[in-house]
Amino acid sequence: MKSGQKWDNGVKKKLPGCPSDNGIIVRAFCIEDYRAVIALWRRTEGVGLNESDTRRAIAAYLRHNPRMSFVAERDGRIIGAVLCGHDGRRGYLHHLAVAKRYRHRGIGRQLVNACLAKLRKADIPKCNILIFADNAAGMKFWAHTGWKLRTELQVMQIRLENGRGTGNDCPC
Ligand SMILES: CC(C)(COP(=O)(O)OP(=O)(O)OC[C@H]1O[C@@H](n2cnc3c(N)ncnc32)[C@H](O)[C@@H]1OP(=O)(O)O)[C@@H](O)C(=O)NCCC(=O)NCCS
Repeated sequence: MKSGQKWDNGVKKKLPGCPSDNGIIVRAFCIEDYRAVIALWRRTEGVGLNESDTRRAIAAYLRHNPRMSFVAERDGRIIGAVLCGHDGRRGYLHHLAVAKRYRHRGIGRQLVNACLAKLRKADIPKCNILIFADNAAGMKFWAHTGWKLRTELQVMQIRLENGRGTGNDCPC
């Protein structure tokens, strides 16, 4: 039997964080993944990066929200990633990305579902995302997977420190 599978009453089951039939593993995002993940985010349209995406900032985010963020991996290479956390009231997902050649195989949905399962376990009733208004393809993905656009809400923000923007800032 392959690793990542077990037999339970004659039924083959997949274990969390272990290879699925297509060899893709979804597992917790750890800081050692940073270099590969930032490279993926940098080449992904619809993902904006800023001062909250340095290695140090992502390490702090992962410490603050332990084992809630996920990567997808194939043959040891990172092909998808998402950040997830909560503030005790609402969950938030950031920077969901799947490498272009691996899209439309259910990986984005799997990454999101892994996060939502963690939020449910933490008794968080709702999860939000921020999305660039011009990301029509991203919007279709979220709508198709059950997310509702809150047209009655807008985001307001104040800057607390002298961080410098990149010109392609993430919307959060
Ligand atoms: C959005 C993204 C993560 C989706 O990843 P993916 O692995 O291709 O998504 P999945 O294969 O899990 O798709 C799940 C469902 O959504 C549908 N879907 C995915 N992308 C879609 C799109 N652009 N338009 C319409 N439907 C879409 C799939 O067909 C699938 O439907 P099904 O389950 O009924 O077959 C990927 O396209 C991406 O990285 N985009 C760029 C980054 C981005 O915009 N991220 C969101 C930032 S807020």
